[in-house]
Amino acid sequence: MNRKLLYGLALFAACFIVMFTVSAAFAAGEQMKLSPSDCAKCHEKQPQDIESNGSKHKTAINCQNCHAGHRPSSKNNIPVCSQCHQGKPHFQQKISCLSCHTNPHTPLKITFGTPMTEPCLTCHTSQIKQLQENKSKHSSKNCTDCHDVHRKKPECTQCHKPHSADITAADCKKCHKAHMPKVVTYAADTDSKYCAACHKQVATTLAASKFKHAMLNCAYCHQEKHKAIPKCQDCHGAKHPDGIQAKFPQCTMCHKSPHDLNNWTAAPEAAAPAKGKAKKTH
Ligand code: HEC
Ligand code: HEC
Ligand code: HEC
Ligand code: HEC
Ligand code: HEC
Ligand code: HEC
Ligand code: HEC
Ligand code: HEC
Ligand code: HEC
Ligand code: HEC
Ligand code: HEC
Ligand code: HEC
Repeated sequence: MNRKLLYGLALFAACFIVMFTVSAAFAAGEQMKLSPSDCAKCHEKQPQDIESNGSKHKTAINCQNCHAGHRPSSKNNIPVCSQCHQGKPHFQQKISCLSCHTNPHTPLKITFGTPMTEPCLTCHTSQIKQLQENKSKHSSKNCTDCHDVHRKKPECTQCHKPHSADITAADCKKCHKAHMPKVVTYAADTDSKYCAACHKQVATTLAASKFKHAMLNCAYCHQEKHKAIPKCQDCHGAKHPDGIQAKFPQCTMCHKSPHDLNNWTAAPEAAAPAKGKAKKTH
């Protein structure tokens, strides 16, 4: 035999031995003494995901608690979640865990791929109650139509135009609640500019008045609930002698309008917009 052939055979034998050992080790399920630190040598993404957002899948367990064994000896080393998670109502979902926990290596980065409501209700109950007890066009929507990423709260202005340029996204909550948007309530110090978006005429008239009501906010008199109408007596009591009150049962018979006090020459104002004529917002 010449040296070249000998060298070739030796190399072949060496390779064979290595390959045999490798596959034998895999076949014997020894995992080549793989440790979690080895995984990153061949797998880039999963170790990175775990490192950055693994939460308890990073701190409480390691790769091999979930991936026992490895190819080729172990054909399926993908765990099922129920191996470790059992017994809570949350785990009795009709849909796969991975349809919300889309990446097991970042278990708390949750996005909702398909429209759903029912699965949210094992953990959140007050919102569905509000939606159902206060029917609006939001009630027929799925939770995920608005919350596509878990814990994310959308701005109203993502879907609606404000009533006027004066109103910002943060202002909507002064009057509306997301899960009962038609029940409009507000605080007594709410700026009248917000009301003016729809009640322009009243706002203009009141602002032009020389009497003390002009210093008051709309919401100071129309308290708490939209469309609430106060009585003059709520604030002023019985101001004049009984005889006068008996003859003129309504204060406005003399004082004209609360928005235009004592303007004796004014025609009665048309204060509210006609029904259904609220400024379109979308
Ligand atoms: C020497 C390189 C190498 C090392 C080290 C390695 N893997 Fe792999 N792994 C592979 C290859 C190659 C595949 C097959 C990829 C394919 O078929 O797409 C694979 C596939 C997988 C799969 C997919 C399951 C399957 O059967 O398709 C998982 C899970 C996995 N490895 C986990 C691990 C874990 C956990 C470690 C560390 C304990 C690890 N790997 C270490 C190379 C490696
Ligand atoms: C909590 C259990 C768990 C831990 C811990 C875990 N994995 Fe996974 N891994 C899974 C599951 C489940 C899948 C299957 C995902 C799927 O079907 O979309 C998977 C899939 C994989 C795959 C196949 C490719 C893919 O993304 O689908 C590789 C490779 C992998 N994991 C490597 C790793 C490595 C490396 C580590 C450690 C840094 C690790 N895994 C930690 C549960 C885990
Ligand atoms: C090998 C065991 C094991 C498997 C398999 C496993 N987990 Fe976990 N997981 C744990 C442990 C341990 C914790 C921390 C203790 C706890 O919260 O129960 C945890 C925590 C979590 C958490 C909370 C994370 C945190 O930081 O609070 C989520 C979410 C989660 N797992 C989802 C899943 C999903 C989805 C699967 C299936 C893809 C899965 N797990 C598979 C062991 C596992
Ligand atoms: C409808 C979407 C959805 C489905 C389906 C789902 N989860 Fe969750 N899971 C969540 C959300 C949202 C959280 C809360 C995360 C947070 O606190 O930010 C959570 C939290 C968890 C937690 C940590 C809190 C706890 O209760 O222990 C674990 C563990 C968990 N899920 C495992 C699973 C397992 C296992 C499955 C499948 C049997 C599953 N999840 C199915 C959405 C889902
Ligand atoms: C396993 C329980 C669980 C499930 C299922 C779940 N959540 Fe959550 N959710 C939580 C926890 C825990 C928090 C954080 C604590 C808190 O703020 O109440 C949270 C917070 C939120 C927040 C932010 C709350 C805030 O005040 O900032 C929104 C929005 C939310 N979840 C929507 C959803 C939607 C939509 C679904 C269904 C697609 C869902 N959640 C399913 C547990 C869950
Ligand atoms: C993801 C989109 C989306 C978001 C975010 C959203 N809405 Fe809506 N909203 C809608 C749709 C769609 C309708 C129905 C519109 C229609 O049919 O004309 C609606 C209807 C309404 C209505 C009328 C309800 C009725 O029954 O007539 C009000 C009021 C409303 N939204 C207020 C709000 C407020 C306030 C917020 C923020 C807290 C908000 N919306 C956030 C999509 C959204
Ligand atoms: C029309 C859009 C829309 C729908 C549908 C919707 N939400 Fe919301 N949700 C919001 C907005 C906007 C906020 C933020 C309100 C705020 O910041 O005051 C919010 C806030 C939340 C919060 C934080 C706490 C709270 O009550 O303000 C949770 C939790 C939540 N939603 C869960 C749900 C669940 C569960 C469903 C389905 C039953 C659902 N949402 C349906 C738009 C919506
Ligand atoms: C000063 C209180 C107030 C503020 C602030 C406010 N709204 Fe309104 N909104 C109302 C009232 C009142 C209605 C009319 C209710 C009715 O028609 O009975 C209404 C009606 C709506 C409607 C349904 C009617 C329509 O226009 O088609 C939507 C949508 C709406 N608001 C969205 C918003 C959004 C988005 C914001 C923030 C940018 C916002 N609102 C801020 C009081 C307010
Ligand atoms: C989005 C438009 C809009 C906004 C903003 C708005 N309103 Fe109105 N308001 C209306 C509509 C529409 C009506 C109903 C008119 C009708 O029924 O003829 C109304 C009616 C009223 C009424 C009369 C109810 C009745 O019985 O005649 C009062 C009082 C009122 N609004 C006060 C306010 C106050 C105060 C604010 C600010 C905090 C405000 N509104 C903000 C649209 C709005
Ligand atoms: C929510 C409380 C409230 C209601 C309701 C109310 N007012 Fe007043 N009114 C006030 C306040 C506050 C002043 C200023 C008092 C002061 O500074 O002495 C005032 C002042 C007046 C004044 C004196 C004006 C001036 O410039 O000197 C008259 C007149 C008056 N109100 C008539 C009425 C009549 C008529 C009604 C019913 C149509 C009415 N008010 C409803 C709170 C109210
Ligand atoms: C001093 C208290 C007071 C203030 C401030 C006030 N209002 Fe009024 N408003 C009333 C009273 C009282 C009535 C009932 C008048 C009646 O019965 O004739 C009324 C009636 C209305 C009505 C019903 C239509 C009408 O005039 O009959 C609307 C709409 C209205 N106010 C909107 C507003 C707006 C918008 C503002 C702020 C720009 C405002 N009000 C400020 C006390 C007030
Ligand atoms: C017959 C006409 C008439 C009627 C009805 C009437 N007022 Fe007057 N009111 C007056 C006159 C006149 C003044 C004095 C104006 C002045 O001094 O400048 C006055 C003054 C007031 C003042 C301001 C002066 C002060 O003392 O603070 C208030 C407030 C007031 N009225 C409230 C009311 C209320 C509330 C009602 C209904 C219960 C009412 N008025 C009914 C004619 C009337």
